[in-house]
Amino acid sequence: MEQLKDIIKQQGEALSNEVLKVDTFLNQQVDPNLMEAIAQEFFLKFQDLNITKVLTIESSGIAPAVFTAKAFNVPLIILKKEQSSTLNKEDVYSSEVFSFTKNKSYQLFTNKKLIKEDDQILFIDDFLANGQAVLGTLKLLENTSAKLSAIGIVIEKSFQKGRQLVEESNIPIHSLARIKRLDKDIIEFID
Ligand code: G4P
Repeated sequence: MEQLKDIIKQQGEALSNEVLKVDTFLNQQVDPNLMEAIAQEFFLKFQDLNITKVLTIESSGIAPAVFTAKAFNVPLIILKKEQSSTLNKEDVYSSEVFSFTKNKSYQLFTNKKLIKEDDQILFIDDFLANGQAVLGTLKLLENTSAKLSAIGIVIEKSFQKGRQLVEESNIPIHSLARIKRLDKDIIEFID
């Protein structure tokens, strides 16, 4: 997506060979016009899949996921990283995720009532790095009869192993910007 790549080139900051800072349009401040354009790209790509829900993980996936849910005219489910105090253990689906970026494990939770057995789910996230968030989501959905139909990623760091892990699952994936290489002040895309 050229508009996204241009914004990454102008405003993104490669902090190292692993981390891209995108605080001005995606993570801390959000550009709503860009989010709308991103949602449109995902809609064009996946409109034939009969998506019934969009799903993301709090917090940075929420902005692109809300706009995407609006484009598909379906609800958005936000997986939480802390169990809600209003729900009992037996009322939630959960799974464990290990974050290589943060070097720690966390749990994902959602209210069982939100996921119906015939749901066809589009997972949206801001970054694909090591793929653990996607795998954790897949694990959580294994407790349900719903299907993870497709994955939409805003920024994929293609030099990390997430892309390969997702491809092994055979779930269709579409990343709007694929980064081949990062280094201090260098950002290279896969064309
Ligand atoms: P993985 O799911 O692909 O394995 O990712 P990983 O655990 O390695 O990354 C965990 C968190 O770090 C995610 O945010 C992810 O969005 C973020 N992240 C990964 N690489 C980058 C990067 O290059 N730049 C930025 N800005 N973030 C990156 P999270 O823990 O879910 O936190 P939140 O920001 O969504 O609240």
